[in-house]
Amino acid sequence: MDVLLTGGAGYIGSHTLIELLACGHRIHVADNFANSSPEALNRVRSLSNRDFAFSRADVRDRAALIALFQEFRPEAVIHFAGLKAVGEGEAKPLDYYETNVAGTMNVLDAMNAVQCRRIVFSSSATVYGEPEYLPIDEAHPLRPASVYGRTKHMAEQIIADWGRARPEASGALLRYFNPVGAHESGRIGEDPHDVPNNLMPYISQVAVGRRAKLSIYGDDYDTRDGTGLRDYIHVADLARAHVAALDYAAAHQGVEAFNIGTGAGFTVHEMLRAFSEACGRDLPYEVTARRPGDVAACVADPSKANRLLNWRAERGLPEMSRSAWLWQSGNPNGYEAL
Ligand code: NAD
Ligand code: WQD
Repeated sequence: MDVLLTGGAGYIGSHTLIELLACGHRIHVADNFANSSPEALNRVRSLSNRDFAFSRADVRDRAALIALFQEFRPEAVIHFAGLKAVGEGEAKPLDYYETNVAGTMNVLDAMNAVQCRRIVFSSSATVYGEPEYLPIDEAHPLRPASVYGRTKHMAEQIIADWGRARPEASGALLRYFNPVGAHESGRIGEDPHDVPNNLMPYISQVAVGRRAKLSIYGDDYDTRDGTGLRDYIHVADLARAHVAALDYAAAHQGVEAFNIGTGAGFTVHEMLRAFSEACGRDLPYEVTARRPGDVAACVADPSKANRLLNWRAERGLPEMSRSAWLWQSGNPNGYEAL
């Protein structure tokens, strides 16, 4: 299939790109490198031994997107491009609405211009907000508690409305839980440009000496050891979910949401222990106050994706931490040269 990836140079995009190339899809990546590096794409080329097209493009630029789509004429789009830092979204809400909401509308407009009817969208478990029950299935109420979460919810609704207006259209809204880990080669991985917001990249940077210690945001939650519990999913499993979603979109009409998680949760202490085993030493931490907006536990019910996408997460916690450590230890400064 001819597939256009917005944000394909990013963490999840680059891992998905490798899977798509291995399956023989023809790819065009569009990215403005707002939070990624051209080096990620170079490494994908050498790891996969396959080529793909690239355009430096911004999803906020509707005219440029339409021109790009008219040149490549994709049969499907995987729309990863977006801003994802929850705290930054509160400080710069308009930037988040512009990139995540208006950017998604521009992508749909460009698809319309070339009669492209299939989209796989990077949504997030954050659209559910405070869990009312666990595990969370797709029928759980959608009450996002942040600007970032609301942009993802709005983009989902826009895609669903776009799909309703076109009976032949298909869309898969993939609600990722907590993606972690790296490619088994350790050559590509997560490389946040700023201080990491997320747990696993923060622990990795402590392990490699870039940060002094991990702050554990509260140990008085109602979980088995008092620290926050999340459904961590290996990025390679997440990448395979996109391939499955593309196949699903090719064979079905309508827009559907899918939880992409494992169905199991781990606490912060468990994540730290697993990472310490992977890197061979105990890592320093201190327990600090709770982070505003955090919930005690968040776990997916992934049975809809298991059933309809014929996909399930296969990799466990040891593989998540081993691969993250292989990536971080081999690339202590990410894609930046030493
Ligand atoms: P990332 O920042 O590594 O990747 C996003 C990519 O989009 C980057 O390459 C960035 O340069 C690009 N981009 C940003 N703004 C752009 C613009 N205006 N035009 C073109 N490209 C632009 O993030 P990621 O973790 O790979 O996330 C990919 C998608 O998945 C995002 O939409 C994110 O919101 C969503 N998501 C991520 C997580 C997570 O924890 N990583 C969880 C749920 C959902
Ligand atoms: C996990 C656990 C923290 C950092 C966020 C977004 C969500 C989605 C995934 C994009 C929590 C604890 C963390 C640290 C800590 N992203 N923690 N010290 O909050 O589940 O979800 O990323 O869509 O939208 O909200 O993930 O990795 O930030 O936190 O103790 O330095 O680790 O309190 O319990 P979260 P996270």
